[in-house]
Amino acid sequence: MINELSKSERQQLIAVATQAMDSAYAPYSQFRVGAALLTATGKIFSGCNIENASYGLSMCAERNAIANAIIGNESDTMRIKAIAVANSQSVSCSPCGACRQVIWEFGQDAQVIFLGSQGWHTLTIKELLPEGFSL
Ligand code: THU
Repeated sequence: MINELSKSERQQLIAVATQAMDSAYAPYSQFRVGAALLTATGKIFSGCNIENASYGLSMCAERNAIANAIIGNESDTMRIKAIAVANSQSVSCSPCGACRQVIWEFGQDAQVIFLGSQGWHTLTIKELLPEGFSL
């Protein structure tokens, strides 16, 4: 596979995502989410969910990690190699539809590591979003 991830990279992403969860601002759902992404250039960026009293304005951890990666990258060519998502309730939680499309924008071969019903699971973004939209 072109986008092979080492065991230690995977473990590190899960650890960083789990740590980022502690920064979550989730007073409405109490569902704390952390995300960590590895760029094609080997850098790791994290994000957490940030909720709002106007619920619809809440932002997912995955998109915050992507925003941090965009701003932390030297150029506009940030590509996602892999992204991990952790949650405080240890329930099955893969990225929502909106986040899948945003991940797709920055890495059509990205590996997505998430807690599934059988534990930690890895799928490609293409498996999670078979017909992603591109312009
Ligand atoms: N949430 C995420 O941050 N990522 C996901 O993959 C699923 C849901 C957040 C949004 C909201 O703050 C809370 O979890 C409950 O939906």
